[in-house]
Amino acid sequence: MEVATSVLNVEKENCIKTFYNIETAGTDYFHIDVMDGKFVENNTVTQMIEYCEYLNSITRVPLDVHLMVEDAMSYIKSFLIFEPRNITVHYEAAKNKEELQEWIKYIKDNNCKVGISIKPETKVEEIYDLLPYIHTVLIMTVEPGKGGQKLIESTLDKIKELKKYIDDNDIEVDIEADGGINLDNIEKVREAGSNIVVAGTCIIKSENMKETIEKLK
Ligand code: DX5
Ligand code: ZN
Repeated sequence: MEVATSVLNVEKENCIKTFYNIETAGTDYFHIDVMDGKFVENNTVTQMIEYCEYLNSITRVPLDVHLMVEDAMSYIKSFLIFEPRNITVHYEAAKNKEELQEWIKYIKDNNCKVGISIKPETKVEEIYDLLPYIHTVLIMTVEPGKGGQKLIESTLDKIKELKKYIDDNDIEVDIEADGGINLDNIEKVREAGSNIVVAGTCIIKSENMKETIEKLK
């Protein structure tokens, strides 16, 4: 299991120290939650750009960018500058499959991996035809928009369904789960079939981040 630590709820004050501690604690990725105030209510654009600037100058831990935005293309361009490991866009943000394919191609042409994310109410079958073109499916296990929410159990069935489909069809794609993941439910998330988890609150708020990340892994 790989762990991506969401920096959404890292306080600005002392953020560099916190980033250093998260790296030392053994995170595999820094998860960057970009919200535009349109696709979701909150707006984290300025904060996430600032955090990426800091992270780029202090760490080699790869960035995992999650775009919860409507106008994905312009944010893809803004965040490619930070040379992330991958950029994930939302299926629901695109007008149609052609637009999604344009985003996918643009990201890949810039030597970056691509993820597609789906919200809790979106059926996983809707993106089956895109799987050959992407590297990661990010299953939202809470409604996108804020940290510290409770995992929605029914989303685990979508992970199971996707896992079965990719195994049956010999497709290689990472299944990343995002939202409300903690030490109490990580086992269920792993069993369902995801191989990367995003965790924010559970890591940031823990007494011992190293121990928490080790247990999650
Ligand atoms: C939700 C974000 C998540 C979330 C993770 O919109 O995409 O990355 O903040 O944080 P926790 O672990 O607190 O749910
Ligand atoms: Zn996220």
